[in-house]
Amino acid sequence: MTGRIPRYFIDDLLSRVDIVDLIDKHVPLKKAGANFVARCPFHTEKTPSFSVNRNKQFFHCFGCGASGNAIGFLMDFNHLDFIEAVEDLATFAGLEVPRETIETSGKHLKSEFVSDYYQLLEQVAAFYVQCLRTDEEGKKAISYLKSRGITDSLAKDFMIGFAPDEWRVLSSRFDQNQLVQAGMSIEKEGKVYDRFRGRLMFPIRDKRGRTVGFGGRVLNDTLPKYLNSPETSVFHKSKEVYGLYELLRKDSKPKRILVVEGYLDVIALAGNGIHYAVATLGTSTSLDHLELLFRFASELVLCFDGDSAGQKAAWRAVSSVFPALKAGRQIRIMVLPEQHDPDSLINKEGKELFDSRINNSQPLSEYFYEHFTKDLKLSEIENLSFLLGEAEEYLKKLPIGSFRELMVDKLSGLSNRHVLDRQAMLAYSLQVKKHRQKSNRLSVASSVLALLIQNPRLIALIEKKDIDWNYLDFEGIEKFRQILDVLLTKRPVNYGVLIEHYRDHPNETIIKKLATVEFPDENIEKLFLESINRLFVETNAALIDKLLEKSKKDGLSKSEKEDLVALLAKKHSDVIL
Ligand code: GTP
Ligand code: MN
Repeated sequence: MTGRIPRYFIDDLLSRVDIVDLIDKHVPLKKAGANFVARCPFHTEKTPSFSVNRNKQFFHCFGCGASGNAIGFLMDFNHLDFIEAVEDLATFAGLEVPRETIETSGKHLKSEFVSDYYQLLEQVAAFYVQCLRTDEEGKKAISYLKSRGITDSLAKDFMIGFAPDEWRVLSSRFDQNQLVQAGMSIEKEGKVYDRFRGRLMFPIRDKRGRTVGFGGRVLNDTLPKYLNSPETSVFHKSKEVYGLYELLRKDSKPKRILVVEGYLDVIALAGNGIHYAVATLGTSTSLDHLELLFRFASELVLCFDGDSAGQKAAWRAVSSVFPALKAGRQIRIMVLPEQHDPDSLINKEGKELFDSRINNSQPLSEYFYEHFTKDLKLSEIENLSFLLGEAEEYLKKLPIGSFRELMVDKLSGLSNRHVLDRQAMLAYSLQVKKHRQKSNRLSVASSVLALLIQNPRLIALIEKKDIDWNYLDFEGIEKFRQILDVLLTKRPVNYGVLIEHYRDHPNETIIKKLATVEFPDENIEKLFLESINRLFVETNAALIDKLLEKSKKDGLSKSEKEDLVALLAKKHSDVIL
């Protein structure tokens, strides 16, 4: 475990770097008015709709809607996670990332320890390669590789090595405590010995090429066939896949990624010219795996063996991948003929036939409905209601959006009448659409917020005035107050710093949207004060209406009458602030 990066550092970092300089290094920018523009790096386009604003410290594409601050740009452009992006941005700014030290069972763990693991595993991988090449026993391993059709250069690409069949090869060369922490050695009754012995070693590298663990295969038929590194602080099986680094080295923007089961499947496919395969690590495909892979390709093909275990695994995967299916992402399911895995099949049929199998694999939607209808005669009424009920349970897991609508429509078509719950299934998306239409006209509250978000310094203008914010009342007031609160307490110096406080926050989307509202370049202060005033005038009018309405219906209490008089007095002055 590493300590957290302190919040103050992230704010400080974002206020030091200039997003224009940062992006310009990756995507050359041209000045256009107050903004800098380029062709968007996140979608294909002929004319530039990607713009970067220095004052706001953010980028936005009017074409595909991508937007964010400097951290967000690095995450999207270089496919990094948050921590990695902060680290890279700090390097760009020439700063060291501090870490909060954390207390774990009395020991202070510092970040150096984690980088120590990476370094150790790197050295171990190199050592295993050396053993394969020079060790007497390594010869057996090499002839095994040959028998599996793995060439020398392929073995180099995947950094395949060999762990000699001895108990303390590693322990006598590397730090024992670190070996145990990194999962390479086992401690038993005070003795430390190597986990992997007499095995062909496959280093598992993360997307940046750091070795995080190993898979080790015996050279014969003894069991267990494979041993894998245990979970450690740098290795999480449900988050890593085998072969991603090697894949990205060949092609950083693959059209599709094929997900298979075995290390040797990935290697055999690469050996036959299919360089876009990765393998899960003896676990089933998790949502984290998919999110990781969708950062690099918009289409994933999940490949399963043709035996009944493979079929079952395919169906299990289908339901677990549903939540990852947003618009623009595609998943296909490929079930191989029985008795085959990708390795044996491609070696038997060759690349062309295998390619055509990939191209003909079933889209997830098709596979899904085929599974449901395979054994059902749809004319029978019980079957029909079974289909509707079961399928709807799955469809509810889909994220709201066009793919879900399509799937619901398809279910209606299959059952030849409307899905009972279709309205309910789609209700939410309709609501979202309606909301979008409504918010095309910006409310006064939204323009006040948009101005503040884009120019956080404006908060100083209203601070000087003694404003009773409690008086405000309109739709969305909670969001308004929450954002105001962040502006007052966190004091972000620009929009780029502000939006960082909203990463993964429920208000993130609305704030990003308000950041793109366009205002004239000049007289922002005047416009802002006028908008605030209008906000109060409108609230005032709404409150008056409410009280008048009530007086007609039920009459007013004494205090309500006083309120009304006060409100009317304010109204006549017309300038409330
Ligand atoms: P070969 O039999 O050499 O062709 O291996 P493979 O790459 O085809 O692997 P297989 O399809 O047999 O298994 C798929 C994956 O499951 C492997 O890559 C391992 O991650 C995992 N696995 C297989 N056997 C074992 C085992 O005995 N123990 C553990 N822990 N994992 C295994
Ligand atoms: Mn195999």
